[in-house]
Amino acid sequence: MRVAPISGQRLFPRAYEEGADDFDAGSGLRYHRFMPTELSLFDKAAAAAARIRALSPHTPRIGVILGSGLGGFGSQVEDATVIPCADIPHFPQSTVEGHSGNLILGTVSRVPVAVMQGRVHAYEGYPLDAVTFPARVLGLLGCRTLIVTNAAGGINTSYKPGSLVVLSDHINFTGTNAALGPNEPRFGLGPNAGLRFFDMSTAYTPALRAIAHAEAAKLAIPLEDGVYLAVLGPSFETPAEIRAFRTLGADLVGMSTVHEVIVARHMGLDVLGISLVTNFAAGITAAPLNHLEVMEEGRLAETRFTALLKAILPEI
Ligand code: HPA
Repeated sequence: MRVAPISGQRLFPRAYEEGADDFDAGSGLRYHRFMPTELSLFDKAAAAAARIRALSPHTPRIGVILGSGLGGFGSQVEDATVIPCADIPHFPQSTVEGHSGNLILGTVSRVPVAVMQGRVHAYEGYPLDAVTFPARVLGLLGCRTLIVTNAAGGINTSYKPGSLVVLSDHINFTGTNAALGPNEPRFGLGPNAGLRFFDMSTAYTPALRAIAHAEAAKLAIPLEDGVYLAVLGPSFETPAEIRAFRTLGADLVGMSTVHEVIVARHMGLDVLGISLVTNFAAGITAAPLNHLEVMEEGRLAETRFTALLKAILPEI
């Protein structure tokens, strides 16, 4: 089928264009044909994983997604293959400062890992398939554990900026769900995985939470436990929203993580979540919130965060 001519700009996703260009000698115009060349999400993730395998000798066992201001952990990876996300087919690229956009394969504390330095967010306008694409690819690369980290606002007033918190559970307040759409059983990577309806009652693997607390105690790093509530963003919350979220049982608020955790659980991966509290949530103090303090707290917490993660990895 013929569709409208284009002049320079891309009307359709790349997959429609590849191999589908048509030059009309009569009019001198280039046309695109709507051809059924759009790959499935699974095929795209498999293609991305295949490219990564071709670029790195490492087979990662644990995937790590680094949140805002926490990308410095990437420099801990030894024997590293650093792959810019732009070099991986179908990989989304972040537009947010503090998310550098590399996938790093190598070892940390002798454990083969794949570290996503930066992530993309729904508030950037990305569909959830893009937001969760790296998590899916980490699964296809062989990771059976996903460690998700983020910067968050502290709702629980016993937290301070700089507190590290292991997620005990989450509240998805984004109004959407990353598993929306037709179910893809091929993403089921373990027993009882890839199901249409899947359990979230132990979304954050209890044994991994116990390891995190045991290692933090050995290192004398204070580590809290808490429930993370995800909003869509990008506006920070109002004080009334924060009071409501506290009533709902939330200790932390942020704009990420829950979507990746949902697809990880769909795939059957074990999940550990760690938040860095970068600020008191809105209304707790009179100070207005800003992204710069989020980045600055990340930098200040880097030594503790890195030491904790390096201790946790070999225990998994
Ligand atoms: N709200 C939402 N997301 C955040 C915050 C916050 O206060 N701090 C860091 N990420």
